[in-house]
Formats: sequence, structure tokens, C-alpha cells
Amino acid sequence: MAIEVRPATPADLPYVQASLTAAFHGSLVAVHDELIDASALPAAVAWDGDEPAGLLTYRIVGTDWELVSIAADKPGSGAGTALLRWIRETAAAASATRLWLVTTNNNVTALRFYQRNGYDLVAVHRDAVTRARALKPAIPHELDGIPLRHEIELEVRFGEV
Ligand SMILES: CC(C)(COP(=O)(O)OP(=O)(O)OC[C@H]1O[C@@H](n2cnc3c(N)ncnc32)[C@H](O)[C@@H]1OP(=O)(O)O)[C@@H](O)C(=O)NCCC(=O)NCCS
Repeated sequence: MAIEVRPATPADLPYVQASLTAAFHGSLVAVHDELIDASALPAAVAWDGDEPAGLLTYRIVGTDWELVSIAADKPGSGAGTALLRWIRETAAAASATRLWLVTTNNNVTALRFYQRNGYDLVAVHRDAVTRARALKPAIPHELDGIPLRHEIELEVRFGEV
């Protein structure tokens, strides 16, 4: 069955919190020197039939759309791709000029995933994860043998020729 993405409703809040806890050790996401309660943001849920399969949260500042979090319950199931397609189409339909996000230097799966889906590298924010750890001590120091230290910013720009 194809994955379907729909905006989250108040009834989805338990899933939103469970998904954020599973993927990010809680609903607080520490990025670019901010602690953001992702469970309070607009969100979209990927559905595999009647089962939720993934979550995306985002926020809008002017015409800039920020993808704050994305996670699939079972990586490789297509939920992530469906969620990225949804946010891109939704942002474009709302006349966004930029859709952007940060990932961390260890996350080579996400870096591959975003670039294969048309996101372009913008910047490396050195030691941003080290600073984020002061806001959220649960951020691990190392994953897959890679020290977590830096944020990598990627974007899609709309309306450029
Ligand atoms: C990154 C993530 C959201 C992608 O979602 P997904 O549902 O797994 O993505 P899809 O199933 O649509 O697959 C996308 C591609 O990644 C590949 N992939 C997914 N998980 C993988 C893994 N663990 N190892 C290797 N490849 C993987 C898929 O095979 C697919 O490859 P393709 O482009 O060659 O077809 C998901 O892996 C995830 O939840 N990761 C943990 C949370 C996270 O890191 N979020 C990003 C924070 S910035």
C-alpha cells in the first residue's frame, strides 16, 4: 500500500510525542542554538494504511520554511521520501522561497537522503552540536564511531531559474 501523508491533527499528538521521543530522545530538539519544542509545531504524519509510519515537523518564518524534524518508524519503508515530497509541495503551493534544514555531521544516511531529494549544501556550522548539547545533554557524543559536533545546513530554493 502506498504511503499517504496528511497534516497532523490534535488526535495525532500521542504519536507525535512517541515519534519524537523514539527519534530524538524527546520532543525538544536542540538546533542552531535554539531549543525547540517540536511537538508544538505544525506537523505531517506519513500513514501506511491505518498505521502511522513517520513524522515531519516544520515552522514558517516569512517565506522561509524550516524542516525541524523528520523521522521514519521503519527506515527504508518510503515514509521519509513521502514526507519530503509533501513538505516540498506544500511549501511551493504556499509560495515559499526557501525550504531548509540542518542535519548533523554523523548522519550520512540523512545527508544522502536529502541530497538525493534535491537539497543543496549551504553551510557547515562548526561545533553547533557541541553547543546544542549544553541545551540538551541527551545528545550523544558519538554515533557509529563518529563524534557529533557540527551541523550541516541544506536547502531547496523555489522560483530560481
Ligand atoms: C532519514 C530518514 C528520515 C529517511 O526516511 P526513510 O523512510 O528511511 O526514507 P525512505 O524509505 O524513503 O528511503 C530513502 C533512501 O534512504 C535509504 N535508507 C533509509 N534508511 C537507511 C539506512 N538505515 N541505511 C541505509 N540506507 C537507508 C533507502 O534505502 C532509500 O534509498 P534510495 O534513495 O536509494 O531509494 C530515516 O532514515 C530516519 O528516520 N532516520 C532517523 C532519524 C533521522 O536521522 N532524521 C533526520 C534528522 S536530520
